[in-house]
Parts: sequence; structure tokens; C-alpha cells
Amino acid sequence: MDIKITKSPTTRINEVDFDNLPFGRTFTDHIFVCEYYDGEWHNPRIEPFHNSTSTPGTMALHYGQAIFEGMKASIDDNGTPLLFRPERHAHRMNVSAARMCMPEFPEDLFVDALSKLVYIDQNWIPKEKGSALYIRPTMIATDEFFGVKPSQSYKFFIFTGPVGPYYTKPVRLWAETTYIRAAQGGTGFAKAAGNYAGALYPAKLAQDRGFDQLLWLDAKEFKYIQESGTMNVFFVINGVTITPPLSGTILDGVTRDCILEILRSEGKPVEEYAITIDEVVQAHKDGTLQEAFGAGTAAVVSHVADIGYKDMVMTLPPVSERKIGTYVKSVIDGLRAGTVTDKWGWIVPVQVEELVG
Ligand code: COI
Repeated sequence: MDIKITKSPTTRINEVDFDNLPFGRTFTDHIFVCEYYDGEWHNPRIEPFHNSTSTPGTMALHYGQAIFEGMKASIDDNGTPLLFRPERHAHRMNVSAARMCMPEFPEDLFVDALSKLVYIDQNWIPKEKGSALYIRPTMIATDEFFGVKPSQSYKFFIFTGPVGPYYTKPVRLWAETTYIRAAQGGTGFAKAAGNYAGALYPAKLAQDRGFDQLLWLDAKEFKYIQESGTMNVFFVINGVTITPPLSGTILDGVTRDCILEILRSEGKPVEEYAITIDEVVQAHKDGTLQEAFGAGTAAVVSHVADIGYKDMVMTLPPVSERKIGTYVKSVIDGLRAGTVTDKWGWIVPVQVEELVG
């Protein structure tokens, strides 16, 4: 499908302080939009960034058919915009869509749309270390209806904005033993808006106790570690990097997958298994808990400072001793900056030919 492009006659870029970018408050000059009705996607287009209007009956607002992706674009020293694993994000969006009874969005159109959008707004890609152009593909149900059923119409849009780091210091996690994020058979693997809504209240309680985010445990026994509020989680115990497996209750994180690939390709010991909070407590007691870190597009790799669990707070070794987390972060940052050789084929340069071809 051809994408119609209408460029903005003006730009807001001069209003942005690129040296002091907060996360997620500034949006670029353009947006991609496409609508679904009569069983098909229609009218893909890039337009000047604008607000959406909607009726109070919009089904996404009532029954939560709303999914999204989080991606980043960077720019190399030659000024070429770079996307990071766009096909994998396009595919994951459709995994979420299937679970939420929403239509799939054509994966080639997804990649084409965001390539063109990033190309048009490439001046907005920050060059500062730790910054990037954050990309938010989103799909919402748009039928106007009181009843509960899958909507027949949807809106898909992609908008972007320059961002600084999501976490500016190592995070304090609270291992949650009252509330749950996801149970087997639920929607935990989907990037569905409701998953985040349900986490806000328990996360607020943890923040009131002085923690930044939750460390979710399984819904049945509060024993097996799942993920953190905005990230997948990794532990380094006795030299082995461990992360919970993709069991249907956690997000299939793109950064998580990169970290596993990077470490495996270098022959470092890595295990995906259902690690328990008790193992983490024991490792902390016997001095073998070397690192814990979160991984996600927004968070990249964020070291964990402490983990609160029941009546204890486990403080991890200083960041200066964290070899694995620091190393994988440097590889991912280097790939994004174009300074580390991409032997995995994850970086997709945005080519001008794609636009004119
Ligand atoms: C991302 O890492 O891109 C996400 O979507 C997480 C979000 C909570 C910022």
C-alpha cells in the first residue's frame, strides 16, 4: 500500500532543549495514521502531528482494546538514521493484536511507515549519549458502542519523540507478594494497555515505600520471578546470567532477546529458567548475587540497586563491579550509535531510496 505524505509547513524543533530531554514529553512534527473498517486497512498516510478527536463511545476507552509497541531510532556519525529490529516489533504488535482480538497490521507496511516517518523527522533524532528517538506504534478500537464485543473499526498510528534515559540511576525494585501482573492464560505476553493500567496501583504503593518499580512474582505461589514494571529482568549469580523464560506471562522483550543472543554468541553462561525469589535471597545471603538488571527498549539496560522482599532489602554490589550488565548495555548502545559491528543484522539503516522508490 502506498503511503500518502503531507509534510508540515512548520517545525517545533527549535523549542526542544536536546541537552535536557526528559522521557516522553516531546513529540515530533509528523504522525503516521491508518484506519481499519470493512475488514481492511485504508488510507495509510503521514501528516503533520495533530490531536485525535473521538466520541465518548470509543470502545478502546471502555473495554481496553488498545495495544502498542516501544521502539527507538538512532543516528550514526554519517547522519544515517538507524532502526533497531523493526521487523521483530512489527511481528510482536501482531501477536498482541491476535490476543486482544484486533486485526493484524501488515508487517511490511509497519516497517515502511516507520522508516518514512523517521526519515522525515530525522532532524529530531538526538545525538546525545543515552538519548534516542522513541517510536510509539499504537492500535485502538474505534467503534462507538455500549456493548462488549470486538470492535469492527480500528485506528493505527505511529508517533515519535526525542527522549533521554528512562531511568537516570540504578532502580530499587519491590518484589510484590499481594498483587499480580499476569496469570497463565491471561494477557501478560501482550503489549496491551490494560497490563500497564493494572500495575499502576501496586507500583504506587511500592513507590510510597521508596522503591521505583515492582518485581512481579507468579500469580499462583508468589514464588517465580516474572518481570519488572517496564522491563524484563536478569540476575547474575555465580557468573551465570539468568532470566525467566517466555512462559506466556511475560513480555517477549526485544532487548531481552538481544542480551541473550549477545551473551550466547560470546560463549558466556546463560540460562532461561523459572528462577525463584528464594534463590535470589539465598544467593544474596551467600554472596553469589553479583548483578541484577532490567532490560527494555525504554530502559535499555538498567542496573538494580536494591530488591525489597517481605521484611528485607537486598542491596546489590556497586555498579562499578557489574561486568555483564555494563557490557551488554555498551554493546546495545554501540550498535545504536553505529560504533559496534552489527554481526546479528539488527540495525536497519533508513535509506532515502525507500522513500523515492
Ligand atoms: C518500552 O520499553 O518501550 C516500553 O514500552 C515500556 C514503557 C513502559 C515505557
